[in-house]
Amino acid sequence: MDASALHRNSPSSTFEEDHILPALERRRKEGSLRKLQFSHQVGAIDFSSNDYLGLAQSRQQFQLVEKTFQKQPQHVPRLGSTGSRLLTGDSDYTRSLEDKLAKYHNSPAALLANSGYDANLAVLSTLTMNNLVLMDELCHNSQQMGIRLSRDCDVKQFQHNNVEDLERLLKEASPGRHCIIVVETVYSMDGDRAPVVELFDMALRYNACVIVDEAHALGVFGENGMGVLSEFGLENHPSLLCSVHTFGKAAGCHGAVICSSQNVKEYLLNYARPIIYSTAVGLHALVTIECSYETMRNHIGKRLRRQVYRAVQLFRRLLLEQSAKSGRQIQLISSISPIQALVVPGNQNCLDFCQRVAYKTEGNIKLFPIRSPTVPKGQERVRVIIHAHNTDQEIQQLVELMVSTLMGMTPADGLLTSGKSNFSARHDVMRSKL
Ligand SMILES: Cc1ncc(COP(=O)(O)O)c(C=O)c1O
Repeated sequence: MDASALHRNSPSSTFEEDHILPALERRRKEGSLRKLQFSHQVGAIDFSSNDYLGLAQSRQQFQLVEKTFQKQPQHVPRLGSTGSRLLTGDSDYTRSLEDKLAKYHNSPAALLANSGYDANLAVLSTLTMNNLVLMDELCHNSQQMGIRLSRDCDVKQFQHNNVEDLERLLKEASPGRHCIIVVETVYSMDGDRAPVVELFDMALRYNACVIVDEAHALGVFGENGMGVLSEFGLENHPSLLCSVHTFGKAAGCHGAVICSSQNVKEYLLNYARPIIYSTAVGLHALVTIECSYETMRNHIGKRLRRQVYRAVQLFRRLLLEQSAKSGRQIQLISSISPIQALVVPGNQNCLDFCQRVAYKTEGNIKLFPIRSPTVPKGQERVRVIIHAHNTDQEIQQLVELMVSTLMGMTPADGLLTSGKSNFSARHDVMRSKL
């Protein structure tokens, strides 16, 4: 008897029929079914990874990591950390790396986490407990889920990057209640930056704290690539409760660090379950993180940042010029970061656009659709990531490809109806209750 016959009418197959298949079918019908995709084929041009500086794919960076790793003492477990930080997973190397990271981010203390997602779960599930949370409506899913895990906190959203709307909520807050503002410095869907100076001024005026996610700013902004807080000298602002810096984007590796006071670090080590109950980062990953910081902060990092800024400007200028020449308006989201987005309303249109691009380049250029419900209906977009390693010719090729693909799609598809990109998007879970 084959395995599928054996399992027919089993509890697991009945469960799949009742719960799994209808949910997948719903996504399929909406055109929003997610699928794994392999995008590192030979000859591929990278316009979609978060590897803004190209460190994840740099030979030189790999060699630096290998050399540094070989120098580590033999008695330290080399492949895994063997336990959580509070049990057997701590090491001299981990502590000294945390000290360095704290120094780099001008912070009293730093605490490593296994990923940015874990760091946000840790921070938001604990620090918001019993407090009022005022959160930008576009905050990342990991921040939202962290708040879901929190107890007895009230959550209100303010309009994306709208300081007046935030002030309205601050005015409504009951006196004496701690209020925590939660933002990103560079937003992952639109690539736009938070008005951090105004936000921090306002937080201080209303005696509120701020928790910041710098995932897409690390390596890209600030003099040594240390992020937007560093760019504006806000790392020691009296309202800053903690900042999260993730290593899976420009740092080209994996993990995250939470920068805060010593007290907040100790509190997280005592109460944050994603830190307490998870195996700590292993030696090889720690070495990779240290080497990434070394490169992001030295002359190589500076050069890569200059390259990426220049490439972003080139992409925007060429796309706007070429679309004007073609007589078709486009909605290019306003962003100075490597995250760029072209609005292509409708899930199916968005998917079609990306498939056409992949088809025309025989899979060498893959762009990814950001569909509803991740963004609201009508605001679906194609995300384009510009990197330090994208050449002028590659950018030129991409722009021509994007414009010709748009021209090949009919305006009746609901495309290109307005030149303005003035909208706010929100992630799917924000629409469900937190
Ligand atoms: C703003 C933001 N925060 C946190 C994360 C999660 O970081 P990680 O990929 O390290 O889990 C992401 C990842 O997409 C992100 O965009």
